[in-house]
Amino acid sequence: MPPYNERITNLPPYPLAHIPRKKRELIARGVDLIDLGAGDAILPPPEAALERMERAIREPAMGRYGFELGLMEYREAIVRFMKKRFGVTFDPLTEVVPLIGSKEGLAHLAFAYLDRGDYAIMPEPGYNAYMGGTILSNGTPYRYELRADNNFLVDLDEVPSDVLAHTKILYLNYPGNPTAAIAPLDYLERVVKQCKEHDIVLVYDNAYSEVAYDGYVPPSIFEVEGARDVALEFHSMSKTFNMTGWRCGWACGKPELVHALATVKSFIDTGSFLAVQAAAAAALDVHDEFVPKNMAIFTERRDAAVAAFRENGFTCDVPKAAMYLWIPLPAHIPSKVFADKLMEEGVVVMAGAAFGQGGEGFFRISFITSPDRIREAAKRAGRVLASFND
Ligand SMILES: Cc1ncc(COP(=O)(O)O)c(C=O)c1O
Repeated sequence: MPPYNERITNLPPYPLAHIPRKKRELIARGVDLIDLGAGDAILPPPEAALERMERAIREPAMGRYGFELGLMEYREAIVRFMKKRFGVTFDPLTEVVPLIGSKEGLAHLAFAYLDRGDYAIMPEPGYNAYMGGTILSNGTPYRYELRADNNFLVDLDEVPSDVLAHTKILYLNYPGNPTAAIAPLDYLERVVKQCKEHDIVLVYDNAYSEVAYDGYVPPSIFEVEGARDVALEFHSMSKTFNMTGWRCGWACGKPELVHALATVKSFIDTGSFLAVQAAAAAALDVHDEFVPKNMAIFTERRDAAVAAFRENGFTCDVPKAAMYLWIPLPAHIPSKVFADKLMEEGVVVMAGAAFGQGGEGFFRISFITSPDRIREAAKRAGRVLASFND
């Protein structure tokens, strides 16, 4: 067999890849497992989506190739959602691209813009698709290390000018995974200006736009003046509607950017199952009724998680958005060692280092299970923490 190419060889192991095997092993050993690993809640999607799906799978036309166009019904629902939720207007045909989950789009966009020697700037810790897409398209990742003292914001003024000069893409993600950081509007205004000045595509990953607490309403990048000139925004059905496995999302922005991504995709995939797109359209149309109810469940889980981890010896902020606690560890405990030890106690969390070296010193929990199970997980985590001082 020929050897793997340079790009594959340069990829680090995918952080969640080993977890299913390890979970099976622990369950086989009879361990009572609490999974706070992936941001993947076991909650139902909107009833309207389920009903539409049931009908759609009986429509023969839904079983045909979706191609790049997909279902007009989905494109139109996306446009209605963007208008109603953020007050921004898009043309359904030229300014929207349906995705098979936002992850593939985030990674595939890099294929349209990066050549060897080009940089994509990305947050570290951050979602691994940014780095994967960059490396697989022969670009060079510039990993900007997020810091708590800077509210986990990427500051382009700190990026060396020779890197900026060769940067084609900036990935931003607020509300953020894994830090749960949010971005103030004046920060976004500054970044939009900087991207214009340096001719950089601003990829705004808004997967958590509807997962917010205590009255906080995450913005769209398009609420910022001038963003249309530089930004492509990515949305996901996954977290908003408990539809992770349905694989459905979209990107929107000006036609030139949308066309770039659609072109790459047209040679790689043939669109998602049209019945899924029909169900997603139905979900989007009930978002303002569904999201508050769903967020009431998440709020209870967040509050339980914050209280329980604090009671068990950890410090953590109360997140205003997303579904994660980003919890600091004492300096002498490497995050992977902590996560591995906690896994042996039957609790799955993500080591901070799994999101890049900039995530070292933290671990992430997803509050995706019931308050009681979260409390039990926090107790076990507290015991593991204490064991490092024995
Ligand atoms: C920051 C961020 N962006 C994008 C995604 C991908 O979501 P999906 O591909 O399910 O739409 C995730 C999933 O965890 C995420 O955390």
